[in-house]
Amino acid sequence: MIQKVDHIGIAVRSLEEAMPLYEKALGLKFLKMEEVESQKVRTAFYEAGETHIELLEPTAEDSPIAIFLEKKGEGIHHIAFGTDDVLGQLAQASGEGVRLIHETPIDGAGGKQVAFLHPKSTKGVLTELCSH
Ligand code: CO
Repeated sequence: MIQKVDHIGIAVRSLEEAMPLYEKALGLKFLKMEEVESQKVRTAFYEAGETHIELLEPTAEDSPIAIFLEKKGEGIHHIAFGTDDVLGQLAQASGEGVRLIHETPIDGAGGKQVAFLHPKSTKGVLTELCSH
């Protein structure tokens, strides 16, 4: 079952440049920075109630975030739903005809198991399922 919007991922060219907006202009509480090698990104997390904001900066030219920035520029990259059963949610989505990017979960930020649904199947919104 999906329990909440766990986080919203925002693609940025530079964390250094983007962080003051979230920290100072909006006053969100900074949680942590982390590099996620599997996705070639550096991330910074902020707390907005139960939902976190995940800023994503590419660490390589072939990073999915670098490709996104080139195509669309900075902005909302994905929405992540927190669930106690990523595999079950994947099976449910797949059973309803949704195209999966990951058939099985991969390691995401914070040691979470994550998997993405293809935006072509989800009304243009890259959708992540993540464990708590
Ligand atoms: Co995410």
